[in-house]
Amino acid sequence: MRRNKHRSNRDLSSSLSSGRMPKKRIGVLTGGGDCPGLNAAIRAVTKTAILHYGMEVLGIKDGYLGLIENRYTTLSYEDVSGILTEGGTLLGSSNKANPFGYPSPSGKLRDLSGAVLENVKMMELDGLVCIGGDGTLTVAYKLYKKGLRLVGIPKTIDNDLGATDVTIGFDSAVITATEAIDKLHTTAQSHHRVMVIEVMGRYAGWLGLYAGMAGGGDIIIIPEIPYDIDKVCKRVTERHKSGKRFSIVVISEGARPKGGNMVVKKIVKDSAEPVRLGGIGNKIASDIENLTGLETRVTVLGHLQRGGSPSPFDRMLATRLGTFACGLLARGKFGRMAALKGQDIRAVELKDAVRSIRRVSRSHPIIKSGLAVGTSFGI
Ligand code: F6P
Repeated sequence: MRRNKHRSNRDLSSSLSSGRMPKKRIGVLTGGGDCPGLNAAIRAVTKTAILHYGMEVLGIKDGYLGLIENRYTTLSYEDVSGILTEGGTLLGSSNKANPFGYPSPSGKLRDLSGAVLENVKMMELDGLVCIGGDGTLTVAYKLYKKGLRLVGIPKTIDNDLGATDVTIGFDSAVITATEAIDKLHTTAQSHHRVMVIEVMGRYAGWLGLYAGMAGGGDIIIIPEIPYDIDKVCKRVTERHKSGKRFSIVVISEGARPKGGNMVVKKIVKDSAEPVRLGGIGNKIASDIENLTGLETRVTVLGHLQRGGSPSPFDRMLATRLGTFACGLLARGKFGRMAALKGQDIRAVELKDAVRSIRRVSRSHPIIKSGLAVGTSFGI
C-alpha cells in the first residue's frame, strides 16, 4: 500500500507537469522447482523492460507466495547485473503456494486467487511475467482467465511442458547428469559392477533419455516404456559374459516395471502437485543383484540436477525468452507463453502449453538411434 501511494504521488505530479504518461510497471516471479537459468531469465526481462520499454520492474518474492503475502522488491538494472551465470533464483521460489488451493492454519484449502488479484492491483502492475513449469503456468493460466495481464516463460529440468521444444534448465541438468554418468563409468569398470543411476524428470523421460544417451548408458529406462526386469538382467548378464564386466543403467524416477507401479517417495500435501517420486533406482538395483548375482550399486542424483551455473545454451535460451516475453507484455499480448520452436522464439497460447505434459514417444528419433547403437530400453 505504501508503495502504491508513493508511486501515484510521484508519477501523477511528474506526469502532470511533463505531460507524459506514468511509467508502466511489470512484475516478474519464479515458481515451482528451481533450475539453472532462472536468474538469466529474470535479468533478461528486467533489462529489456528498463532499457527498451522504459518500464519499472517489481520482483515478486517466492513465486505465488509473494503474490499471496504481498512481498516484492523493486528490481533495478544494477540488481540484475552480474546474475546471468548464477544458478537458483534471486527472487526465491515455492512449489507449494497455489493461490487456488492454499492451506489455512487448520489445513483446509482456501481459494486466495481474489486476494492475489487485489494485491496485483495494489502493486499497480500493468503486467506480470510468470517463469515456471507445468504447475506454475497452469496457475498462471487460471489467473489470466480471472483477469490478470500476464505472460509465461517455460522452465523445468523435466522438459515436459507442451508447446515449446525445450524449457530453461533442461540442458544444464542434462550436462550435470551426463557428467555423473561419466564418473560412474570409471568406477563401474574398475570394480566390475552394475551401476544404477536414478535421475529426475517426474513423469517424463527426457532427462533420462538425453543424459543416458550422452553418457553411453547400456540400459536406459524411462517412464514412457515400462521395463521388463528379465530383459534388463539378460542384457547385464550378456555383457558380463562377453567380457564387458560392468553395466550402466540409467533410470528415470518416474519409471516402472511392466505391470507395476511408480515408486512414490513422499506426498507433499499442500503442494499443487503433491506426489514426489523417487526410489525406483534402489528397487531395480536390488532386483538386478538378486537375479544376476552381480554386485550392484545405486546413485540417486537428486537435486544436484537443479543446481549450478546454467549452460551456455540455457543462458541464451533464457535471454531470448525473457526479452521476447517482455515484448509480449509491452504489446498487450497476454495469456501467451514465449516458446522455442525450431530456431525461433514464438508466442504460443498458455492453454496449449499446460494442456497436458509432453512425454517421450516410443518412436522418438533418439530412441531409434539408441536402438541402432545397441542401447537397451529395458524391453
Ligand atoms: O519438476 C522438477 C523436479 O526436480 C522433478 O524432476 C522432481 O520430481 C521434483 O521437482 C522434486 O521436487 P522437490 O524439489 O519438491 O523435491
